[in-house]
Amino acid sequence: MTIVGIRGFRDILPGDVERWQFIENTTRKILEDFGFKEIKIPVLEKTELFARSIGEDTDIVEKEMYSFLDRKGESLTLRPEATASVLRAYIEHNLYKEEPIKKLYSIGPMFRYERPQKGRYRQFYQINAEVLGVEDPKIDVELMVMLLHLLKRLGVRRTDLSVNSLGCSRCRPQFRDSLRSFFETRLDILCPDCKRRLKTNPLRIMDCKMETCTKVASDAPSILDFLCSECLTHFDAVEEMLRTFEIPYVVNPHMVRGLDYYTRTAFEISSSELGAQNAIAGGGRYDNLLKELGGPDIPGIGFAIGIERLALLLEEREGLFRFPKVFVAALGSEAQNDAFRLTTALRLKGIWVEMDYGDKSLKSQMRRANKLKADFALIMGEQELKSGSATLRDMKTGHQEEIDLGKGMDELIEKIG
Ligand code: HAM
Repeated sequence: MTIVGIRGFRDILPGDVERWQFIENTTRKILEDFGFKEIKIPVLEKTELFARSIGEDTDIVEKEMYSFLDRKGESLTLRPEATASVLRAYIEHNLYKEEPIKKLYSIGPMFRYERPQKGRYRQFYQINAEVLGVEDPKIDVELMVMLLHLLKRLGVRRTDLSVNSLGCSRCRPQFRDSLRSFFETRLDILCPDCKRRLKTNPLRIMDCKMETCTKVASDAPSILDFLCSECLTHFDAVEEMLRTFEIPYVVNPHMVRGLDYYTRTAFEISSSELGAQNAIAGGGRYDNLLKELGGPDIPGIGFAIGIERLALLLEEREGLFRFPKVFVAALGSEAQNDAFRLTTALRLKGIWVEMDYGDKSLKSQMRRANKLKADFALIMGEQELKSGSATLRDMKTGHQEEIDLGKGMDELIEKIG
């Protein structure tokens, strides 16, 4: 019996992977232009890290983590997101002592045990960006501008930005109380999970995916009516700068995000072209998280983009593929040896060259040159071998000319451009 991959875990095959490479290369360039440095973090962490940061009552921690006991009985988890790991590394390596502001990005796989469907997988990839050490609302807007710029550069046409403020430890308790009173009077409509959440963390009801809960939540009080003056000033500044940059956005006072660590600004970008799983990116501030994880009292903000969803949006995009410059077609063992030497020499000069292995007919070799979409074919036969020459064929126009290989590869390199 053959062994197949795990449900929700995908192979990204050549033909698809070019889109991913384009996404990753463009991301690196733009993030680095905005001052970000890459950080590589492990895929496995202590379970406690995620339970403490993402929150015990979130869907991610309650239902979606890949957790297991290692051989020594310690509970470990495949990371469901990157923020917690980046902050753990930031604290562990005292990165805050190096510079007051750190901008860190990472690209890699995350794991969540969700029901797989188009755009939702159990192993999925995120581009993750975090800024530590800036309280100024300019950074909130800087991140949104950068994110939208990146999406535009990648060729994503339609995006919708939603923003909200989730308040802080001073004003959120009042909002939580008001939510609790609101849902208490509608207890019978809530799902069993939300009935429990009402006691532990009523904000989580706002993020429940059950249709009945979503419907009740749409009439819930707005957090914006509860913001303290500092949170309000911060949010006003964010809105004002978004307008200055002429960035279209909507304020969604019911957006709480699926992770518990957020304070103040939260934002999401979705695309109507994506169907049910329409969130491309999400993020926000987490001004208390570093302290809560045992680190210094330093504010933070970040976002993550789902690469699979980006790749879906770029499906039609052309011009992402590279093709060989030359296909060397050789006839007879002597010519094949010469061709192999020439192919290798050209490759060592950084030119993409292909040739066949084994003794193949010219027709079969030219078929392969066509299939690989090589720009040129270089035909080396017994006859050419004697005169030290080869025939160069432009595969698009069909134009052929003799190349003298006796004096080296210069003429050939010049002709193929
Ligand atoms: P998140 O909203 O949970 O945020 O995930 C961010 C993005 O990851 C989503 O908008 C979506 O594009 C993608 N994504 C999430 N789950 C899946 C899945 N099962 N399959 C495919 N794509 C998925 C976070 O993870 C936060 N750590 C973001 C952040 C960084 N906040 C502050 N810093």
